[in-house]
Amino acid sequence: MSRKIWVFDTTLRDGEQVPGAKLNLYEKLEVAHQLKKLQVDIIEAGFPASSAGDFNAVKEIAMKVGNTDHLMITALARAVKADIDAVYNSVKYAEKPLIHMVLGTSDIHVEKKFGKSKNQILDIGIEAVKYAKTLLPEVQYSTEDASRSDFEYLWSTIEAVVKAGATMINVPDTVGFAVPEEFGELIFKLNDRLKNLNDKVLLSVHCHNDLGMATANTLAAIKNGADKVECTINGIGERAGNAALEEVIMALNTRSPFYNANTNINTKEIMNTSKLVSSLMGLDVQVNKAITGDNAFAHSSGIHQDGLLKSRDAYEIISPTEVGLDDMELVLTARSGRHAVKNALEKLAFNQLTGEQFEEVFADFLVLADAKKEVYNHDLYIIVEKYFARHDM
Ligand code: KIV
Ligand code: ZN
Repeated sequence: MSRKIWVFDTTLRDGEQVPGAKLNLYEKLEVAHQLKKLQVDIIEAGFPASSAGDFNAVKEIAMKVGNTDHLMITALARAVKADIDAVYNSVKYAEKPLIHMVLGTSDIHVEKKFGKSKNQILDIGIEAVKYAKTLLPEVQYSTEDASRSDFEYLWSTIEAVVKAGATMINVPDTVGFAVPEEFGELIFKLNDRLKNLNDKVLLSVHCHNDLGMATANTLAAIKNGADKVECTINGIGERAGNAALEEVIMALNTRSPFYNANTNINTKEIMNTSKLVSSLMGLDVQVNKAITGDNAFAHSSGIHQDGLLKSRDAYEIISPTEVGLDDMELVLTARSGRHAVKNALEKLAFNQLTGEQFEEVFADFLVLADAKKEVYNHDLYIIVEKYFARHDM
């Protein structure tokens, strides 16, 4: 039977750590609403202890997007009381809140970063989980730098925090150091022990892309028993980024007999989500990026075009419509009318504009349409962004 894999999106936390990609409250809400449409299982909405603005954004997302039992809302804490309180006080408004805390397990983190002994760090982790459990039933513990940690110490940490009440264990390849065979083996060994200890605890992975292997490592982890994956849209994130959600999902779908695993993701929302995140964060997607790059479904060589005309599967392993690409884009003009413009905006995932906001955007659209004659999707993004900027949103 096909296994369900939980999808945890950290675009608004790890993704937002990209220099220059900071979003304001309204933009974060737009992205969170779109992630809900994409049907991720968990949204990590920010790092509330870092600033009042981040705290408020997590709280608003918990209230306005987390009002459903199909979605968990979480945020990140270090294993200290003040951070855990900030997470609790911001995510508690969601129907399904989760506290996520992180503490390193590698010698480099324990000794060099914290200057403590392994036992001291272990005790801090246990106490933090026990405290978080007095606030919420769902607690995720991330063993930062797990892939460079001593295996027996990593396991003793996991064992202790599970006994203290952690319901999800996340194994990060924090610096993107792992390679797929080795990371798969690590997850296999941890999964074996964890399922013997408590088979209700979810085993999760969080892979960075420093060696270009975040997606491959994530897939190797799934193959070896991981129940949950942490990803970002377009693979954005700290340094070289995180595992790209769209790559992991489309690999699972396209190679489903191999992985025998499924997710709740509505793949038809992938392209909208990618474009929304890219435009609001001002981060272009490289043209040849798998799944969401402009050229991912474009065929230029004559030999390929000839082959495709005879049989699409000669050079196409994914239908563009599966990820929400239209076979054609409707070009808007000054005569298109409100309905067509609203429809085009919704397709680009701008669903939250009020009637008044839409009227102002529509007026800008008419000015541009008169000047330019034809208005494309990329023009609509610019119109809405200018609207946000004008209103300090
Ligand atoms: O890369 C990392 O280790 C993290 C943790 C907070 C999960 O982002
Ligand atoms: Zn990370």
